[in-house]
Amino acid sequence: MKVDGGKRTMVLSGMLTVLLRMVAGATFVFSGFVKGVDPQGTAMIIKEYFVGFGIDFLGPSSPLGSEFVSIFAVMAGIILAIIEFVIGANLLFGIYRRTTAILLFLFMLVMTPVTLYLAVADPVHDCGCFGEAVVISNWATFYKNLVLLAISVLLLRINKNHVGVYARAVRWLPCLYSAAFMAIIAAVSIRHQPLLDFRPYKSGTDIRKAVQTEADNAEIVFIYEKNGEKREFPLSEAPVADTAWHFVDRIEKTAPGKKNKYSDFIIRSGDEDITESILADTAYTFMVFVPSVSEYEDSWQDKIDELYDYAYEHSYNFCALSPDAATMQRNIEASGISYPCYTMDETAIKTIVRGNPAVALIKDGVLYWKRAPRDVPDMAEISVPLQQTSLGYVHQYNFKNRMIWICLVYFVPLLLLFIAEKSVIGIMSGIREKREAAKAEKMLGKEKNKKRINNKTKTEMRKNIVAGNWKMNKTLQEGVQLAKDVEKALESRTPNCDVIIATPFIHLATVAGTINTEKVGLSAENCADKASGAYTGEVSAAMVASTGAKYVILGHSERRAYYGETPEILKEKVLLALENGLKVIFCIGEVLEEREAGKEYEVVKSQIEGSLFNLTAEEFGKIILAYEPVWAIGTGKTATAQQAQEMHAFIRKTIADKYGAEVAENTSILYGGSCKPSNAKELFANKDVDGGLIGGASLDAEQFMGIVDAF
Ligand code: 13P
Repeated sequence: MKVDGGKRTMVLSGMLTVLLRMVAGATFVFSGFVKGVDPQGTAMIIKEYFVGFGIDFLGPSSPLGSEFVSIFAVMAGIILAIIEFVIGANLLFGIYRRTTAILLFLFMLVMTPVTLYLAVADPVHDCGCFGEAVVISNWATFYKNLVLLAISVLLLRINKNHVGVYARAVRWLPCLYSAAFMAIIAAVSIRHQPLLDFRPYKSGTDIRKAVQTEADNAEIVFIYEKNGEKREFPLSEAPVADTAWHFVDRIEKTAPGKKNKYSDFIIRSGDEDITESILADTAYTFMVFVPSVSEYEDSWQDKIDELYDYAYEHSYNFCALSPDAATMQRNIEASGISYPCYTMDETAIKTIVRGNPAVALIKDGVLYWKRAPRDVPDMAEISVPLQQTSLGYVHQYNFKNRMIWICLVYFVPLLLLFIAEKSVIGIMSGIREKREAAKAEKMLGKEKNKKRINNKTKTEMRKNIVAGNWKMNKTLQEGVQLAKDVEKALESRTPNCDVIIATPFIHLATVAGTINTEKVGLSAENCADKASGAYTGEVSAAMVASTGAKYVILGHSERRAYYGETPEILKEKVLLALENGLKVIFCIGEVLEEREAGKEYEVVKSQIEGSLFNLTAEEFGKIILAYEPVWAIGTGKTATAQQAQEMHAFIRKTIADKYGAEVAENTSILYGGSCKPSNAKELFANKDVDGGLIGGASLDAEQFMGIVDAF
């Protein structure tokens, strides 16, 4: 069986595109999400970057004030999280394929050198790219970024090769929804506590047990010395029998991943370590965490005071914890109440809770709950003891449940949108299409006559056309021979389309006299923008018509690019061609830079408006349009069937807006640009693609017929 190489390459490149999108998309969604779910944690890492990279005006002694720097870092973290999450979601769903590929590339272009610097100079020990969820070394981050950079370069070229989940018309919705979702997650996590907790000290943790388990898992290493050389041995290999080795020390190995995550839970009253007495206390203890006394949010003071009054009434313990206990203690006393403030390390506090202040309840070493002051109920309203309220019980943190809810909130609306788009919108456009077709048929007063191409209905009011544009190829003799070959090949066929050949001027008269131009339409490739006169070297529309040719190609991108043909010149040419009874095959199409800038629709519309929209509807009826994306001409790089269909539908709509549905339905719109027998069928199967304008493949009768046969 003959394998269609072009098609196989297309399928493989489509599969590769999806695979790369999944890898980069999942990585970005994950890294954006874990940053956004804990904006304060992300802000802490961003502040470390400010210090590590020597950005003094955002450092600890910033002239802008520590509060400003904190807010700035939180905002930067949220924006970064949203950007990463949206890029990831766009990749996963295949929306805004070109823009997303560019954004991804730019992102990686910046991040890769930054992480190389991190890996080499180590100014920040934890790059924080996956928040607190997954901590990887700086070198691992750099290698990960290298892979992502390579993927982004590939996607720049191929991201368009596979369609996305959502149609163009609705793609803004999932994109906007992803941004809003991430922003809301971040806002909720700031106002309360991170929706997902990737740190130690989750609600429900028995801290004493956790400390012990960690200690049990720690590796004990023995250090021995021999001839001034010190070496570490695990217990089983300690050289106890070898007297040359002398025992030096026994340590708990705190290598990364082995470090006791709970060892920093140390509470001091002055110089005295009171951790154990607090953890062992079987009474309730309310704790108010204040990681920074200077950034303490006073607005919560009333709430804290009420909580204190409640604790006092019921004889529960109450204390504050801060790295600067002395100052905090003074502040507490200045407000006229008295509870102790103990010392706890700032990092430990920030690991336990987010917020300044934040509140937690602990009993018998178990962390019952931790929350922002806004989530503590109005204690003045509660007179019963804690056991009679839900506050008196452990609020066990459940990662799985939270994750399920978050996924449901994110994916269910997207799924509904998907279903709505594929069903409702599909049905609507089907109805609209039918209505338009019926209207157009009625106006024409013709019999309803439809044919089906690949399950798509195409009305027969317009013609299917395959036209060959020979450009500047073939001598007169070769050209005449080719024209004869085309005519001969058609004798054994009943083509489902009109066949046209466009030859250089010099061939026209001879070819017209050699073949039957009723069977093979004859076209010129150009004509002058002047009717007649002293224009040396030019060939007028009247001269073209006098050879027997019935068509003329105008506006080809090669003439626009190499011979400076402007929309105004083309407007003149079109008018002269029509005056002389020629039908015009008018070419339009964008260059690569315009497509990459997302301007293809704008460009094509202005080309049509600039040269054709001065025509009456009747005159416009003699125009055949040929959409030829310049980047596809002679490059072997065809527009995908979807790209062609999208543009052709747009062109038809542009015509409908100006001349009405009937004229639009009657206009044949051809596709041109590396069209070959292998891809013609797929292109022509589209509802709005009515044939092709063929360059290279029209110079060989057999290949040209392969394209004619596609209909
Ligand atoms: P190719 O088919 O060689 O890409 O040329 C297309 C074209 O320019 C037809 O006018």
